[in-house]
Amino acid sequence: MAKTKALPAGKSADEMGRQQREISVSEFFTKNRHLLGFDNPRKALLTAVKEAVDNALDASEEAGILPEIVVKLEAVGEGGSPPPPPSQASRFRVTVTDYGPGIVRQQVPRIFAKLLYGSKFHRLRMSRGQQGIGISAAGMYAQLTTGKPVKIISRTGQGSAAHYFEVQLDTKKNEPRVLERKEIDWERHRGTQVTLELEGKYQKGRASVDEYLELTSIANPHATLTFVTPEGESRVFARSIGELPQPPREIKPHPYGIELGMLLKMLQDTKSHWLSGFLSGDFSRVSTATAEGICQAAALSPRRRPRDVVGHDAERLYKAIQSAKLMAPPTNCLSPIGERAILAGLYKQIKGDFYTAVTRPPSVYRGNPFVIEAGLAFGNGPQAEQPQAAPLAEGESSGGDDKELARVIRFANRVPLLYQQSACATYKAVLDTTWRNYGVSQSRGAPPAGPMVIFVHMASVWVPFTSESKEAIADYDEIRKEITLALRECGRRLGVFLKRRERAHAEFKRRNIFELYIDEVVGACKRLKGGRLAEVKLKKQLEQIAAKLTGGDKTEELVSRKTGPEGLPHSIIVTAEGVEGELAAEQPEAPAPGAPARAARKGR
Ligand SMILES: Nc1ncnc2c1ncn2[C@@H]1O[C@H](COP(=O)(O)OP(=O)(O)O)[C@@H](O)[C@H]1O
Ligand SMILES: [Mg+2]
Repeated sequence: MAKTKALPAGKSADEMGRQQREISVSEFFTKNRHLLGFDNPRKALLTAVKEAVDNALDASEEAGILPEIVVKLEAVGEGGSPPPPPSQASRFRVTVTDYGPGIVRQQVPRIFAKLLYGSKFHRLRMSRGQQGIGISAAGMYAQLTTGKPVKIISRTGQGSAAHYFEVQLDTKKNEPRVLERKEIDWERHRGTQVTLELEGKYQKGRASVDEYLELTSIANPHATLTFVTPEGESRVFARSIGELPQPPREIKPHPYGIELGMLLKMLQDTKSHWLSGFLSGDFSRVSTATAEGICQAAALSPRRRPRDVVGHDAERLYKAIQSAKLMAPPTNCLSPIGERAILAGLYKQIKGDFYTAVTRPPSVYRGNPFVIEAGLAFGNGPQAEQPQAAPLAEGESSGGDDKELARVIRFANRVPLLYQQSACATYKAVLDTTWRNYGVSQSRGAPPAGPMVIFVHMASVWVPFTSESKEAIADYDEIRKEITLALRECGRRLGVFLKRRERAHAEFKRRNIFELYIDEVVGACKRLKGGRLAEVKLKKQLEQIAAKLTGGDKTEELVSRKTGPEGLPHSIIVTAEGVEGELAAEQPEAPAPGAPARAARKGR
């Protein structure tokens, strides 16, 4: 018989029991900081800026203040040495200042040095932040990589003093430690400034701080953003719309959206004394009559105390709720960007010949209302040499040499999403759209080709992100369907524009050829008639015929673009002569074509 090798003595349940202990959220996220977007120095710098700017935008809007935000990056030398050039620096000081409402003194330490602390998690209202783990996580990362505390200045109004704080997070307890607190003089009468010193890498290009600010300005044309680069340059993204978006309203949960566990918790927490009162009071779209109906279907008395509804009773109640006929949730909790504002944002930031935008009607996934918006900028701008932007003939696809692919810019609640593009429902919908139908070439499994920027925005009280770092939108059928519908409408308008432009150019060319021969024909006729001919009259008649055969005045108008983009609602067409459409008519604030602001617009 083979002898089994003796295994080392195992641990007893007692020993194992002694090793169990609680894990604080801060300890958890210290080990898992990639979950929050701090996986590498370049991304960490971006995430820190993003968290502070998102908060500044949220707070300003909530207070009814037009956002005005300054982002400053400075390279910092290590151990007291002078700062290296920005491209080589590995440490940065990030300072974000806003003119928002400020923060009351008592809240400052917990906001900046306690994870999962915030004002937005427990409400159903559209905002950029949700989890209460944004700026505090950035502060924790800063502390972890440089040991430096977070520095905050905040002032809530002319009547109160500005307060200066230095705080650190005690990761074991997930509680703030205040290192310094004092009143100071501050030139601003209101607002918040947060300064973080962290390990980071500054590099321009895709998914950079520059790109984030540029895209933020597109989706937030009501905000003015100033970027003081590590090189000391100041870049201003000025607002192109002078009014705040409609403030979103807070809503109660819609019964279709909740899970059983959530219902159980709500039954325990409610202030209502009766079950029917709980149903109609704590949910949206449940009337008193519907509430009574639900109680009846669940065989429960409407007068039951909510707290006593547990076990099987609760399960029956849950089923009855799910099968009740209810109106879709209200959508005034959403504040979409709007077609005009998207056009203004795209036009300001991206060069092109054609712009269009679509806001879909509200829809619902898992009980959460949402709105999808899409936009499109096409072309290189009228001044550019544009061999690639030449319109395609019907059925023709551009040759293999045009490899420039469309750039997809994604947003959730007005925040640009810069990572994990291919995991995002928006990008999948772009790939799934048959762009060939609209006169643009596309290879299988790729975005369409051509000088084009595709914009997609999802606004919702709860955006279903695929992870805590909020980079990609989960692929719910209802969401994907709405994105696809919005993209198709943009594509259809682009197709109309391209076809129109192509036809007009072809007809115009034909007319020029006809006109070239008119003088010859008139001369020949004159010779045939022995010199007796009303030359001028014949010439005029022939010119009229040529014009008629080549599309008449319409061609003229399309080529010289004296008319607006008829039949293309919410579109702008830009030519060397000027701008037509939505923006030209309604955007006095927008810079005129050729003005310096436009010349500074970036390409793709
Ligand atoms: N610049 C600011 N101005 C006013 N309030 C702020 C500012 N930054 C943060 N806050 C408050 O601090 C809270 C926590 O912020 P954060 O940790 O980013 O979480 P979230 O934004 O997800 O709520 C916010 O909910 C907000 O109430
Ligand atoms: Mg936040």
